[in-house]
Amino acid sequence: MCLARYPKGLPRADDFTMTQTQPAEPKAGQITVKNQFLSVDPYMRGRMTGITTYAPPYELGEPMSGGAAGIVLKSAHPDFKKGDWVTSLYGWREAYTQTVEYSPVTAMEKIDPNAFAPEHYLGIAGMPGLTAYVGLYEIAGYQRGETVLVSGAAGAVGSTVCQLVKADGGKVIALAGSDSKCKWLESRGVDIAINYKKAAQTSGGLSKIIKNACPDGVHIYFENVGGDMLEAALNNLQPHGRIAACGMIGQYNSTVQNIAPSNLIQIVGKSLKIQGFIVYNYQQFMPDYRAKLAPLLATGQIEANITYADGLDQAVPAFLRLFSGEKTGKMIIRL
Ligand SMILES: NC(=O)c1ccc[n+]([C@@H]2O[C@H](COP(=O)([O-])OP(=O)(O)OC[C@H]3O[C@@H](n4cnc5c(N)ncnc54)[C@H](OP(=O)(O)O)[C@@H]3O)[C@@H](O)[C@H]2O)c1
Repeated sequence: MCLARYPKGLPRADDFTMTQTQPAEPKAGQITVKNQFLSVDPYMRGRMTGITTYAPPYELGEPMSGGAAGIVLKSAHPDFKKGDWVTSLYGWREAYTQTVEYSPVTAMEKIDPNAFAPEHYLGIAGMPGLTAYVGLYEIAGYQRGETVLVSGAAGAVGSTVCQLVKADGGKVIALAGSDSKCKWLESRGVDIAINYKKAAQTSGGLSKIIKNACPDGVHIYFENVGGDMLEAALNNLQPHGRIAACGMIGQYNSTVQNIAPSNLIQIVGKSLKIQGFIVYNYQQFMPDYRAKLAPLLATGQIEANITYADGLDQAVPAFLRLFSGEKTGKMIIRL
């Protein structure tokens, strides 16, 4: 799958093109992999702007990169044999032949499908899960028993944050975009899940609903969305509260100048700390995170919620569901 042009606003199906080629025979040091699962993630929208941010933009007409998990079909590399599972950034395609290279550009990793299900390496046991772990513990400095407000709470990152806090003895106020997402979050132990779309229609809005749910305020806000949710969070953080600024998905398709929350002065008055982060700079925490996650998943204390779409032709519609919210947990394409 290639990007045909840089989208304006919400991407459309005709911003993308599908091309057909056969993977080459592997030469020395190369493997041919048939992808089984592809990941679509919000950061990809930032790579569709033609502008270099922390990652370079997608090249028009070139196969796009993205998380993938696949099975080795042919190998000319001593570390890999036919049938091995491998994750990489050679996603948005069914198969590939590439030189094995362990670098941030390829993110190639031989994975153990018995440790975690292969698709979990793209979700809860992969980049989004690590993002939750790093944001919560390293950036926000979560301490057992604290209260955490989470936006995008039913998404891949947010749902992991919520469940880690519950597994570690804290209280969670979760913000999500539908009653069914709120119901699922509460089934996972979240203390109060708020449908932010409904809350916005009430007098006093989201700020007041959070205040009613948590009159003493929250210690941490895990920021995934921005805008009105950041404004409501600033109103409800306790003095010396912390914000882990993970993402602001509410702005990714914006075609107008984004308006900052009107209450940023609260950062001063409450002595708040805000820190942004990019997970790629924290890869060294992956072994610790997976060691913590494995027993929590095995005992059901954490559940990996996945929404599947089937077939490469569903990759673009699945990507768009990240922004419409028509999915719960991690969005995965099954090939
Ligand atoms: N800093 C890092 O290194 C890093 C790494 C990974 C992800 N992130 C960021 O973390 C955030 C969550 O990522 P994810 O992978 O968990 O995403 P995800 O699974 O795709 O979840 C995204 C959710 O965000 C909500 N949403 C989408 N557009 C929205 C809008 N305009 N206003 C309000 N809510 C909206 C939707 O849920 P509702 O139905 O509840 O609205 C959607 O399901 C994103 O901001 C992403 O960029 C950052």
